[in-house]
Amino acid sequence: METTVEPNLDVKEYRRALSLFPTGVAILTTVSEEGVPIGLTCNSFSSVSLDPPLVSWGLRKVSRAATAFRNAKGFAINILAGAQQGLSGRFASSAITDKFEGVAWDAGVNGLPVLRDCAATFECSTFAVHDAGDHWLFLGQVQRFEHEISHHPLVFCKGAYMLLSKALIESSQQSATRTAEVVEARRLIHGALLELACRNAVAEDINALEAKLVEMEKFAEAGLPQARVEAGVEFFRLIGAATHNEIVATLANSLADVMRQSLSDAVASAPRSELVPLRREILKHLRTRDRAAAEHALGRYLDFLSQPAESASEEVLMSKFLAYSSH
Ligand SMILES: Cc1cc2nc3c(=O)[nH]c(=O)nc-3n(C[C@H](O)[C@H](O)[C@H](O)COP(=O)(O)O)c2cc1C
Repeated sequence: METTVEPNLDVKEYRRALSLFPTGVAILTTVSEEGVPIGLTCNSFSSVSLDPPLVSWGLRKVSRAATAFRNAKGFAINILAGAQQGLSGRFASSAITDKFEGVAWDAGVNGLPVLRDCAATFECSTFAVHDAGDHWLFLGQVQRFEHEISHHPLVFCKGAYMLLSKALIESSQQSATRTAEVVEARRLIHGALLELACRNAVAEDINALEAKLVEMEKFAEAGLPQARVEAGVEFFRLIGAATHNEIVATLANSLADVMRQSLSDAVASAPRSELVPLRREILKHLRTRDRAAAEHALGRYLDFLSQPAESASEEVLMSKFLAYSSH
């Protein structure tokens, strides 16, 4: 396939201009011929016709999901609610092999994966697939839909949040020095988040953090590394939410995307079970609003995390942890 761009078209500026059209974010799902659930993040969804009810969306031809969607008889459009931002990052990641691991979904019409807790879902039969430059343009006829009007949809505008995350991820992957920079950035930003969270967290925030830790431990026991990573990222996102400062929480979400990427890249490494007591300690100090102790626990957590998993056996790490704890 050859891609031609108008000779004078400045692609960066063109994309920037397009990004001024705010959209929602959807996870497009289908099932492969082998019965494997497939999904990707998409914001090119649009309603086309009411009678019959037709919708459209575009899929990059080079996507790993292209064959499955082209061969399938239908697809589901899962419109994300604001609280599901984590799913947007997850289903947009090429690094994650099983995007559905730890994600709650039900089989809808013809077994199409319908994600739970979405703002709306549309289950469609494939009406047409058109060749559209470097994308396939899918038209679907809606067979069944559900919606929850009380949910606020996740909105994507000016690419700001995603672009920031993308830039951060790319930058953090460049070298070992950059990895150290990510750890430093986390120390600084999460330290500040903990300070604010100590001041502003309410009981529900603490309970949500506690529940996330329990979930994480369950995933670790069940040997579900990617679900564990997702819950770990979510734990730190919830600390951001506990600040009750939306701007700060949004910035923390960008950092969470970087964490998700680097943790997913390292997912094959052994589960860092020694980190569990440290996360519990952060939560303990958050509960008692002891900012200094919470930051100290975070520092120790990050010291552990910055050690390469391969060279640090569980025993070595545990002995270091015990040495730290006796301070
Ligand atoms: C907010 C957002 C919107 C996206 N919209 C689309 C889209 O409409 N079509 C598409 O093909 N990819 C879109 N993507 C990119 C895909 O999600 C991403 O390329 C894909 O999930 C990577 O996995 P793959 O290698 O399996 O394709 C979007 C990504 C984000 C973050």
